[in-house]
Amino acid sequence: METRSVYIETYGCQMNIADTELILGLLKPHGYESAPTPEGADVILLNTCAIREHAEERIVGRLGDLVKHKARKPGVVLGLTGCMAQHHREALLDKAPFLDLVLGPDAYRNLPALLAQESADEPLVSVRLDRDETYADIAPARGEGVRAWVTVMRGCDKFCTFCIVPYVRGRERSVPASALLDQVRALADQGYKEVVYLGQTVNAYRDGEVDFGRLLRQTARIDGIERIRFTSPHPSDMDASAIDAMATCDKVAPYLHLPLQAASNRVLGRMERGYSIEEYAALVDRLRAAIPHLALSTDIIVGFPGEEEDDFRATYDFMAEVRYDFAFMFKYSAREGTRAYKWAETLSEAEKGQRLQEIIRLQEGIGGEINRQRLGQTVEVLVEGPAKKQKDWLAGKDPQFKTVVFPGNGARPGELVPVRVTSANAHTLVGVAERAYPV
Ligand code: 5AD
Ligand code: SF4
Repeated sequence: METRSVYIETYGCQMNIADTELILGLLKPHGYESAPTPEGADVILLNTCAIREHAEERIVGRLGDLVKHKARKPGVVLGLTGCMAQHHREALLDKAPFLDLVLGPDAYRNLPALLAQESADEPLVSVRLDRDETYADIAPARGEGVRAWVTVMRGCDKFCTFCIVPYVRGRERSVPASALLDQVRALADQGYKEVVYLGQTVNAYRDGEVDFGRLLRQTARIDGIERIRFTSPHPSDMDASAIDAMATCDKVAPYLHLPLQAASNRVLGRMERGYSIEEYAALVDRLRAAIPHLALSTDIIVGFPGEEEDDFRATYDFMAEVRYDFAFMFKYSAREGTRAYKWAETLSEAEKGQRLQEIIRLQEGIGGEINRQRLGQTVEVLVEGPAKKQKDWLAGKDPQFKTVVFPGNGARPGELVPVRVTSANAHTLVGVAERAYPV
């Protein structure tokens, strides 16, 4: 079989990174190798994100750059996969008529066959959503590392009024538990130490009797896997079973990303998030009581249509009260096709920007304070590899998912090293290893 090479550039969330590994896994048996750069690749794919307008603009700009590779060699295929492909479908071909391929998240199985018809004159578009597609039988082609991402469910049924995800990723469906556990056993055999379970509403996972908590408990029994994480859970699905798994399984890391979006009940109601701020706060209390040393992060949107100064203050004050370890904070971006798209925006970009800056400043302060409380303490670091900035240093994560860097002590990736924290900022802990390793 002739070898061809495929270069995939990935945008957006962890699910998309995992989907890129899935696409590579689908193409591998058809003789495709992964190319590190677009130069020289036979197939160039952008695996895209549609969550905010900014993400889409970047991708359109990047397509303009990449089109030159089609002139380089006849037969080079330039394609777009993922959420933006699903969102704009044929309309994309008006903006980028040079595209050969537009493929939505449930259509990746068709990719090898579509690439085999490469002489087609017309662009090939495949964007049918499929209620049953979980790709359970496909082995993703993962990069080397200590952490493996495993998609446990796809799609979302929540339909928050601002969000495009349910439209571009379709309905919720879970991968059978037996397939997942087999996959994790294989990952442990390959030397992975950490699994991260992924899903748009990951804790809505269900396969018959196996709910998300049970899936976590079963995963924790697999030898060789040291840490289990997951993202992103939805507050409304954080049930007793899932909390119990976090509280009782040592391997399930004490870290939870719990998207809040906004703290005023008026805004939460219009977002149709499915919880009140009192319910969310009660959940945080319950989690903190059940799980010692729990780190919490969140997502916040500022400037949702109709967000008044009082509503924004409520979000600011709530963040100050809860004290998240970190937060992903965004300006509202109207997405065509969502319900909120029809609602007039009540803030200018500049006003949204000001609100965003205010909470970023607040969160930076809080994150730094929380991390500095670790000074002098010893944290257990799962080593990932060399630190990015300091030569001969190592980097990894502690159980709370904080990045920790320390002077190399001979430890290899995948080893757990106790590190005493000597300094910290909002994003990184710096320390020294408490144990030296023979080189
Ligand atoms: N505008 C801004 N942020 C959004 N998110 C989702 N949709 C939008 C939107 N239209 C954010 C939410 C979500 C995160 C993944 O992206 O905070 O939790
Ligand atoms: Fe979007 Fe809401 Fe679903 Fe999250 S839960 S993916 S914000 S619709």
